[in-house]
Amino acid sequence: MNEKRSSFTGKIGFVLAAAGSAVGLGNIWRFPYLAAKYGGGIFLLVYLALAVTFGFTLMVAEITIGRKTGLSAIGAFKKLDRRFGFVGVLAAIVPAIILPYYSVIGGWVTKYIFGFVSGSGSAMAQDTYFSNYIGTTGEPLLWFALFVGITAIIVFCGVEKGVEKVSKWMMPLLVVLIIFVIVYTLVTLDGAWEGVLYYIKPDFSKLTGMTFVAAMGQLFYSMSLAMGIMITFGSYTKKDISIEKSTHQIEIFDTGIAFLSGLLIVPAVFAFSGGDESALGQGPGLMFVTLPKIFESMPGGSFIGAAFFIMVFFAALTSAISLMETVVSILCDKLHIGRKPCCLIILCGVLLLGIPSSLGYSAWSGVTIIGMQILDFFDFISNSVLMPMVALLTCIFIGYFLKPQSLIDEIEETAPFKQKKFFSLAIRYIAPVCILLILISSVLSAFGVIKI
Ligand code: TRP
Repeated sequence: MNEKRSSFTGKIGFVLAAAGSAVGLGNIWRFPYLAAKYGGGIFLLVYLALAVTFGFTLMVAEITIGRKTGLSAIGAFKKLDRRFGFVGVLAAIVPAIILPYYSVIGGWVTKYIFGFVSGSGSAMAQDTYFSNYIGTTGEPLLWFALFVGITAIIVFCGVEKGVEKVSKWMMPLLVVLIIFVIVYTLVTLDGAWEGVLYYIKPDFSKLTGMTFVAAMGQLFYSMSLAMGIMITFGSYTKKDISIEKSTHQIEIFDTGIAFLSGLLIVPAVFAFSGGDESALGQGPGLMFVTLPKIFESMPGGSFIGAAFFIMVFFAALTSAISLMETVVSILCDKLHIGRKPCCLIILCGVLLLGIPSSLGYSAWSGVTIIGMQILDFFDFISNSVLMPMVALLTCIFIGYFLKPQSLIDEIEETAPFKQKKFFSLAIRYIAPVCILLILISSVLSAFGVIKI
């Protein structure tokens, strides 16, 4: 990002751009399967509680660091304190880990568009269709390569703006379609209301340590926190944008879409399985197994299914572009080479790293790393280890070295910061202590030392 820093036009421009990057597969694919798996209503409650405390604190901190320094993560930390430059570097590794496996899921989405368009809707509604599909070696790899290829071509040719324009009107359409399908499910499918109850009514007996670990990882992932992205966004904002207000708006947007996606998927799982534990806990495949069943039961379902997956594809594509963009610009800055060679290097890297994630379900399904499937392992390393580490270091840096007041002053250049007392308290004490507890317990449980 050597070129002159452009700014967002208008106040809403910033919120829309940041929310556009935040909304992606994390909301539509990841949130519902975690909510289903980790107890429904109790997961939702923990997630919301973490969003208004940590999520808010970290997002405000990152956007403000960006606006204060006018730089993206690596430069920003270095400028504020040379000793903390490594936090920016650590943050920069995260998108590089996420992008390959994100693209594997993007490939699944692309395959499903093709499936509906080519009239395989009823085959896709079968219970075993998805597991058979990802169990084959070649096809998922091709769809993955196609998804990465499209992303790389867009970044290579620099036509991101065009894609963003398309996705700007795709997103509201997606929300309308999600609401329509939710209403359809609730009205027509027997047993769906029990699912709604499971999804919104907290059952404290289902609360475990894993609920917190999963909810916090999801929070970082969904809001694109602890990876430098919001620092970059902040660096583009002007002084007339209220950081506090914008953060609330981005959070409401992102959480709203995640909530609706859960409402779309979780009740349907109940309707089709009667609340069977194994159906609820099936993990990454949940959306791909459940949605085709709803579409199959609908008149015109193939058309609606295709439209739905096309919109999800755009949400995934804009996120993948922004992830690749980040990795490319970091590499350009480090190696001092042109954008185009950087794109090619990253393309090869993503292909190489993504292949094991895809094969982990087929040819290499026997391979596990600390008891996890390969894709789950990458997901774990980024969401449950690196991001909490970056978040913790960010809190320590701001809380004890830079001092919260320095960010508060920056925020108050625009408007009084209403939650400043809470912000200082959260960034110094609440957030670091909780992040540390969650980080330690998730790592210990991954190695089987403790059971949470
Ligand atoms: N937040 C995105 C989602 O919910 C995923 C994501 C994580 C992302 N990090 C990102 C998107 C960085 C763009 C840039 O799907």
